[in-house]
Amino acid sequence: MIGVGVIGAGYWGPKHARNFAELPGSCLAVVADLDEHRLTGMRERHTSLRTTTDYREVLVSPDVDAVVVATPASTHGRLAREALLAGKHVLVEKPIAISSRDAEDLIELAELSGRVLMVGHTFLYHPAVRALHDLVQRGELGEIYYAHAQRLNLGLFQRDINVLWDLVPHDLSILMYVLGTNPVAVAAHGCAYVQAHIEDVGYVDLKFPNRVRAQIHVSWLDPNKVRRLTIVGSQKMVVYDDVETLEKLRIYDRGVDAPPHTDTFGEFQLSYRYGDITIPSLPSTEPLRLECEHFLECIATGHAPLTDGWHGLQVVRVLESAQASLRDSSAALPLLHTDPHLVVSGGR
Ligand SMILES: NC(=O)c1ccc[n+]([C@@H]2O[C@H](COP(=O)([O-])OP(=O)(O)OC[C@H]3O[C@@H](n4cnc5c(N)ncnc54)[C@H](O)[C@@H]3O)[C@@H](O)[C@H]2O)c1
Repeated sequence: MIGVGVIGAGYWGPKHARNFAELPGSCLAVVADLDEHRLTGMRERHTSLRTTTDYREVLVSPDVDAVVVATPASTHGRLAREALLAGKHVLVEKPIAISSRDAEDLIELAELSGRVLMVGHTFLYHPAVRALHDLVQRGELGEIYYAHAQRLNLGLFQRDINVLWDLVPHDLSILMYVLGTNPVAVAAHGCAYVQAHIEDVGYVDLKFPNRVRAQIHVSWLDPNKVRRLTIVGSQKMVVYDDVETLEKLRIYDRGVDAPPHTDTFGEFQLSYRYGDITIPSLPSTEPLRLECEHFLECIATGHAPLTDGWHGLQVVRVLESAQASLRDSSAALPLLHTDPHLVVSGGR
């Protein structure tokens, strides 16, 4: 039985706590938050739960083998570091840290201490994203042309990071996993409308190898909740709509074929294909449950997680360059330090 301590009981931490309390291989030992009101709520949900306003109590608890860090992004690097130094396995929320130097430091510490370091890129455990990955990797869409992602809503405004650091990790980690490669260049622009100097609307333009392009539009300032990813290939196109309750993936057997060669303008005719739309049935398991199970499995087996520190680091490197582009009038910046082959664990 793996004892789990959770640091941060705001919106997301309690979901980790619920899963580790329910999973057969773990028990929820203690929850920490600076805010006593949050802890009262946790004790109401989990009777006899130990709680504390001092996260250091979690780190010294002998019944805690693993720590979840679900605090604001700017604290991830420091808290994850302290947890690893205390000899705990760590599941840290996304982004792994807000600098690549901190992320590298965490990877090194985890390797030296032989502890599992995993990042909460939850969507990589989503059955729809797994299915999307398989479709693309099997070549069912043909040659991939481009992808377009939107993640929009009204809120939740963060105070310590802008919308790029908050929401882009989701779509970026999905794209890197599904395409099986990392981007080679990034450009970004955005605007800060509500809070001074904290962009609430952002656009990221990514170049992947083999002419694949992707755009990610994120916003905390939109009337509608949109979570949609479209991938267009030479054979088929697919739309992943995470707001749909049941029909999250739609595969369109649609495309355009150009004639191989024509001598005259009159002979040149594009042929459009309008085939079937397939909606695969997907398991409805909660992605966070699968992520928590995977973390426990990795602790038990010593295997590297799918979303290990290296994967988290690649995401942070792209975000750092996107941030630099944002400050530099949206200049396109090459990603010299992201290894196109190092996407998820096992690629090292
Ligand atoms: N993977 C996902 O799909 C997903 C979804 C939502 C949020 N998140 C991530 O989860 C993290 C938390 O997000 P949230 O929406 O729950 O934020 P939140 O602001 O609702 O909660 C953060 C909590 O951390 C507590 N906290 C801050 N510093 C602390 C410290 N030193 N010790 C103990 N408690 C401390 C705060 O009091 C607060 O209750 C963020 O990193 C966010 O990116 C991930």
